[in-house]
Parts: sequence; C-alpha cells; structure tokens
Amino acid sequence: MKQDERAPFVHALERARVAAYAPGEFVEQESFMSAGEILALACQAGVASGVSVLDLCCGVAGPGRFITREFGCRYLGVDFSASAIEIARERAGDLPCRFEVSRIPPIPQGPFDVVLLLETMLAFPDKDALLQEVSRALTSGGRFAFTMEEGLPLTESERKRMPDADTVWLSPLEDILTSLERAGLAVRCQEDRSPSHRAVADLSIDAFEADAADIAAGIGRRALEDLVTAHRLWSYWLQTRRVRKIAFVAEKTEPPRASGLRSMRQLRADQQDVVVSVGGRHHLRRR
Ligand SMILES: C[S@@+](CC[C@H](N)C(=O)[O-])C[C@H]1O[C@@H](n2cnc3c(N)ncnc32)[C@H](O)[C@@H]1O
Repeated sequence: MKQDERAPFVHALERARVAAYAPGEFVEQESFMSAGEILALACQAGVASGVSVLDLCCGVAGPGRFITREFGCRYLGVDFSASAIEIARERAGDLPCRFEVSRIPPIPQGPFDVVLLLETMLAFPDKDALLQEVSRALTSGGRFAFTMEEGLPLTESERKRMPDADTVWLSPLEDILTSLERAGLAVRCQEDRSPSHRAVADLSIDAFEADAADIAAGIGRRALEDLVTAHRLWSYWLQTRRVRKIAFVAEKTEPPRASGLRSMRQLRADQQDVVVSVGGRHHLRRR
C-alpha cells in the first residue's frame, strides 16, 4: 500500500514487523523477503566487495544497508519517497551508501554491475519498458535480481477488494520471460518463494492485530484496516496459487532489442498471431 510519508509507518509497524520474521531475519525490509532470502539473491546476482549495485525502489533501504554491510559493495538506492530516503540516509550512518530521491523510470544511467528490484515489480504497469531500461543500465554480463508477483491481471472485483489497487499490476510468467529475453537478459536463477512469503503475510496479520491499538494511534485506523485487508488477500492468493512469488536473477548477455521487434518466444506466446510458411519464407499473420 502507499506509504509515501514513511516515518509514521516505520515507527508504528516496527514491533509487528520484527515479530513477523524468525529471529535475525528482520533487517528493516518493507516486504515479505527474509534476510536469508535477500542474502541468497544478492549472492546469486554476484554482489561482492567493490561491485556496483543500483537498488531500485529501495524504500528505507533495509535490504540495501544489509548487503552493503555484508558484502562491502558500492551501493546506490533510489526511491520516490523523500521521507523513506531520509530514514535510509539516517540509518545508513557510516555505511558507504548513496541515495537519490527519484521516480522510476527513468533509471540512473550507470553502468552498474548489479541492479536490484525487490518486492516492487508489481507497481509498474509497463514491465517491458522497465526491463529495457534496466538492461541499458547494466554492464555487459551484469545481473538483474528481482522478485515478482506472477499471475493473470487482477479482475475488476479483485481490484475493488485490494487497497491501492493502482499499485498492483500482476504479470503472467510468460510475459516476463518474453520481456526479459527482448531486453537481452538471460534467466540464470528462478525460485518460487510463495510458501515462505505467505508465512510472513500470515505472521504479519497476527502481529498487526496484537499491536492494533498502538499501530492505529500511529497511522490511523483506516490505514491499519487496509494493511490487514491487503495482507489477507496476499495470503489467500499465495495459498491458492492465484499469485506466485518468484525470485529471479537474469544476466545481460546482449543489448536490448527495440520493443517493436518480436522474438520467437513472443510469437509463440501471442495467441493472436500465427507464423505461416509460404514458399519457404516465414510470415506473420493475424488470426
Ligand atoms: C514494498 S516497498 C519495498 C522497499 C524495498 N525494496 C524493500 O524490499 O524493503 C516499495 C517501495 O517502492 C517505492 N516505489 C514504488 N514505485 C516507485 C517508482 N515508480 N519510483 C521510485 N520508487 C517507487 C515506494 O516508495 C516504496 O518505498
């Protein structure tokens, strides 16, 4: 949900967020990822000492500060919430982290060795354009590590039930794979995180309810109700496989192709088109 003015949320939810993770797994992330999952994804992406990392939609940069501390990477975090970045800067202390307040797209030019987008792919309706930009910001052989909510777009009735549905844009797996390929990004790892993320959603609901009076005093009763409603929906959708949470690492192996050019994977995925062979030549015909 929208938390552009971040400080009240960070303070009011802190106790519940700590309670929603196993001991040692909360590192001020604003998401369902555990510290162990963040660490594993960063390792798979090649984050290490001296490696340049761009963290898109970093929030208060719990994951970013964590990996900078663990690996000694060169870190830039970007988020459009000035209040989230203010908290990130303050909590980074002496860590060599840099931050920018900026709405994405556009993406800072780079090039970077690693681009991260943790738990925020769903906020972008046009994922194809975003992936093209991510690819341009990467070095050749650089890696893009992200999580995504995989599934058919929300129906009208689902949108009505989900608070701030204008920030929830699901995408079928095939569409993301097509966009990655077109952006010159080859998938190196793909892991289904649905069960562990559903567990964090459930524990968060319990923790919000246990601490309801204090949380409502900090962010208001309506915001608390929206938080609980959203977490219940995510839990239900993850349990029923309406949505899957998938963590990816993709490597830049070639420059992005213009969005207008269609790959064979895309042609296969596009039910509207058929490839016909006439006189040994292939043509695209609309059904
Ligand atoms: C769910 S939080 C995730 C924060 C962080 N990545 C983490 O895992 O802890 C989503 C963040 O994305 C930011 N955000 C959403 N859309 C954005 C955009 N278009 N440009 C920049 N920041 C954006 C929000 O302000 C918020 O801080």
